[in-house]
Amino acid sequence: MPKDAVRILVTGAAGQIGYALAPMIARGIMLGPEQPVILHLLDIQPLAESLKGVRMELIDAAFPLLQGILATTDVNEACKGVNIAVMAQASALEQHAAPDCKILVVANPANTNALIFKEFAPSIPVKNITCLTRLDHNRALSHISERLNVDVRDVKNVIIWGNHSSTQYPDANYATATTDSGEKSVRELVADDPWIDSEYINSVRERGAEIIKARKLSSALSAASAACDHVHDWIIGTAKGTWVSMGVYSDGSYGIQPDIIYSFPVTCQRGEWSIVQGKFCMHQLTQEWLDFGKIGRSLRRS
Ligand code: LMR
Repeated sequence: MPKDAVRILVTGAAGQIGYALAPMIARGIMLGPEQPVILHLLDIQPLAESLKGVRMELIDAAFPLLQGILATTDVNEACKGVNIAVMAQASALEQHAAPDCKILVVANPANTNALIFKEFAPSIPVKNITCLTRLDHNRALSHISERLNVDVRDVKNVIIWGNHSSTQYPDANYATATTDSGEKSVRELVADDPWIDSEYINSVRERGAEIIKARKLSSALSAASAACDHVHDWIIGTAKGTWVSMGVYSDGSYGIQPDIIYSFPVTCQRGEWSIVQGKFCMHQLTQEWLDFGKIGRSLRRS
């Protein structure tokens, strides 16, 4: 039985991230190779022509899973009946989206924007409002993979605590990597290499700025790919024994201030995320945060 198409809204669709993200969704990277999709592409009026061009390219790519494209500058029209929204417009979504619409906020400052979104869309359940820290999570995995010279798919269970980008805490204390001699803790594999407690943390935190310096533009393809990973794992589920990082509404777990949007380690099943409980030692983190200094303050600010 063919599945019903899922309607996915991408805002800023003529922009850099939108342009990278739309074909990934249409190719099945976000929801898998069996799931047809209808893309709702929204951008501002001055970019209407450019949006038309994106639509034409999507048609020309003849994606088998792409059952329709609505390209519009009308926010209300764009939000009608959507099941998943990437980037997001709060009040229009609240009025027009499907009741269980899942929201991923990508635009920076993503944590703050997700919290603002929640304020402007009070009828959307808070568990449906998330922000992207998967880009940081993926960076954290790939930097370890480069350092240890192992495939990135063999590294797992880093954690991004807190914010996206420069005020996050990338935690490799529980990460593992699988090598020829089996699955081992990353800490054990890096042995006494001080990299893990210094350069590594900074390289993940500063990567966005480094890319801006090199490209003269923000990251786009890696952000789009991370957005696909985030929604994919949220909807389809995380692999057994694996967690991912998502910015979600804090319930006070691990002593984090409640009612903010904060990146935690989560597992997902049947379209619901839950914070991994009781596994991590916050004492160690607290000390490291104090060393880094800025985290707590920036979280309260954002
Ligand atoms: C990134 O982490 O690549 C971006 O969020 C950086 C930015 O400020 O746009």
